[in-house]
Amino acid sequence: MAAAIDAGAQARLFTDARTPQGFVDHPFTRADAEAIYNLARWGPTSNNMSPMRIVWLLDHDGRERLARHAVSKNAEKIRAAPAALVLGMETDFRASLKTLAPHVDADAMYGDAGARRTNALRNSAMQAGYLTMAARALGFDIGWMSGFDAGAVDADFFAGTTVAANMIGTVGRGDPASVRPRAARLPFEAANLIP
Ligand SMILES: Cc1cc2nc3c(=O)[nH]c(=O)nc-3n(C[C@H](O)[C@H](O)[C@H](O)COP(=O)(O)O)c2cc1C
Repeated sequence: MAAAIDAGAQARLFTDARTPQGFVDHPFTRADAEAIYNLARWGPTSNNMSPMRIVWLLDHDGRERLARHAVSKNAEKIRAAPAALVLGMETDFRASLKTLAPHVDADAMYGDAGARRTNALRNSAMQAGYLTMAARALGFDIGWMSGFDAGAVDADFFAGTTVAANMIGTVGRGDPASVRPRAARLPFEAANLIP
């Protein structure tokens, strides 16, 4: 039986970790992106479909390209961050299931486009959570954003593909001085039921 991870590790991942509003002045590199992805990719998804597809924007031009599609407050944060990302979802993951889940009859199981999109959304959102925790485990922070023009991001970053934007974010080493006061979380009684 596995032991619980220590309290310090739990705090790093959850109770001390915050959504950054700004970052310390430290470059974010391709090696950093690879380390975060290579940890996060092991999180579970339905039939191992792994629909998350990420565009990492590591330079000024890339961040500017994304910022144009974000609402103004988010655009400011993207411009000021060391790096940004578009978290897309592969809405037709049937081809990759040949490798990821060779035992699955992908066409029979995922023939319906609406069901494929639901699965892509559900599982790429799970993977966004894994990416958040992988980043935190490695000393980084991600500031997720849903305030952007998804159609414009799709046209700019995913034209000619079946990938669609799910969310965007900033990434780097969060500046503790930047965070907002911590908001409450729902207590167990408010969000859980044991019938
Ligand atoms: C999917 C998602 C979308 C979000 N969209 C935005 C956004 O558009 N703009 C923004 O400033 N913060 C956004 N946030 C940040 C949340 O408001 C923040 O993570 C939450 O309040 C918890 O903050 P804490 O981690 O500091 O406690 C988003 C977070 C998530 C997970």
